Parts: sequence; structure tokens; C-alpha cells
Amino acid sequence: MDTMSAPAPLTNDPATLLAEGWTVRVVPETASTNFAASRLPAWHALRARVQTGGRGRIPERRWVSDEGGLWLSAVVPCPGAARKWEILPLATGWALLGALREFGVPDLRLRWPNDLLVGRRKLAGVLVERFRPDTAVIGVGLNISNRPELAEPALAGATARLADLVPGGHDPDDLARIVLRALRRMHTIVLDRGFGVIADALNLGWQGSRRVELTLTGRAATFAGSFQGIDAQGRLRLVTERDGPQTFDASQVARLRELE
Ligand code: BTN
Repeated sequence: MDTMSAPAPLTNDPATLLAEGWTVRVVPETASTNFAASRLPAWHALRARVQTGGRGRIPERRWVSDEGGLWLSAVVPCPGAARKWEILPLATGWALLGALREFGVPDLRLRWPNDLLVGRRKLAGVLVERFRPDTAVIGVGLNISNRPELAEPALAGATARLADLVPGGHDPDDLARIVLRALRRMHTIVLDRGFGVIADALNLGWQGSRRVELTLTGRAATFAGSFQGIDAQGRLRLVTERDGPQTFDASQVARLRELE
């Protein structure tokens, strides 16, 4: 038997070691996989079939996480200065963009900092949290065959799902492997070469300007400007008529809305 190419099975319990160097646990249900993974060591990941309290990047907005989607949190080591890892949300967006394009998702793009969109519909989102100084939890939510709009009718027309985009059945365990492999590669690049190479690749995809509206954290007012990609630290570059070129890091921006 060719044991080298046999895919490692993912089971409920006990944890299973994957070929990609991750230990993955699958649970039927948890509130938020990010919380559940917060106590796990680096290179461990946790997938839930259902999240009862899935959280989005905007704190007041829940992430609908019914059966049929990928709700996965992966713990990565963050050695050295905390600043080096502030770009993880963006770097994760870049990693998922590549992995899902390779999987065959058409017309996929990244909206800063890490929403994966098909057209204007959201296919996947990322929530990176630091519960401990030496690790980060990368939470990935990917709609596969679930229908978020059934739980939240306001989402009708705003979400995309893999089942409508790529033919064939999609096993969440296979997708977990694809995502985890991409995260591992991304981590190696950040560690060995820094974020610059990823920033360059992202800016290539963001060539040309796009009008956006920003809501800054803790403020109600919005303002519009022209999105010009990111700087070497991953900060959003915006040009407004009133103030000219400015940069904002992800913690300063509560919401980015595309106007065109
Ligand atoms: C967003 O786009 O607002 C981020 C969504 C992140 C959702 C994922 S699902 C797995 C992990 N657990 C959570 O509670 N949230 C993230």
C-alpha cells in the first residue's frame, strides 16, 4: 500500500496528526473555535461542525456558523517582537486567496484587510486573536454548503458559498487541510523573509485605485477616499481630497465599504 499518499483521516477524537504538521481536533459544537483554541499549543487547530457564538471582526456582528461550513482556528507560534506578527490578518488573507484560487474558486479577491469576496459577496472571513504572547489564533470561516441567510435573512445576497462556485462535493476536512497547509507556508514566509514579499504580492492584486468609505474605530462618522493598497507594514493607504495621502492600521478601521 502506498502509505505516503494516503490522506490522514480526521476523526472526532482523539486528535489526529496531519501530514502538514498540524494536530487537528474536530468537535461537534463550540461557542467560538477561537476561544476553544486559545489554550492549545502552537501548530494545533480546532474545527467545529457548528459554532453557537461565532464571532466576526466587527465585535457587534456575529458570524453565522451553521453545519456545512468550515469553522477553523489554528494556533501559530509568534517568536520575537509582537510587531512582526501584526500583519498576520493580512498575510492570512493572502494565504487563503492563493489556496482558494488554486482550489478553483473563480473571480476571488481580497478586500482589505482580509475579506475574501466573489464579486461583492463574502465567501470567507478571518479573525486573528492573540490570547498569549507567544502564539496567535487564526480563525477562518468559510461558507461551503451552509446558507447563512437562512439564520440571518439580512445576509441574503451578501454571502457566497463554495458549493455554488466549484463543482463537486466539498468535504470540510479536505478544506481544513488546504487552509492549514496554506497557513503553514505563509508562516514560514513571514518568519524567513518578512512581510515585504506578501505586501508586494497583495499590492499587485490591488493595482488601480478604488473608492471606499471608512469608519474609524470608536467613531460614528464615515469619510470617503481612494484606496491605494498597503504600505510595507500592511497599513491601508488612502488618499482623500481634503487630507491627501494617509495610512491606517487595521486596529484603526472599524469598517471599509467599497463605493464602486
Ligand atoms: C469576519 O470576517 O468578520 C471574520 C469572521 C471570522 C469567523 C471565524 S469562524 C472560526 C473562528 N471562530 C470565530 O468565532 N470566528 C472565526
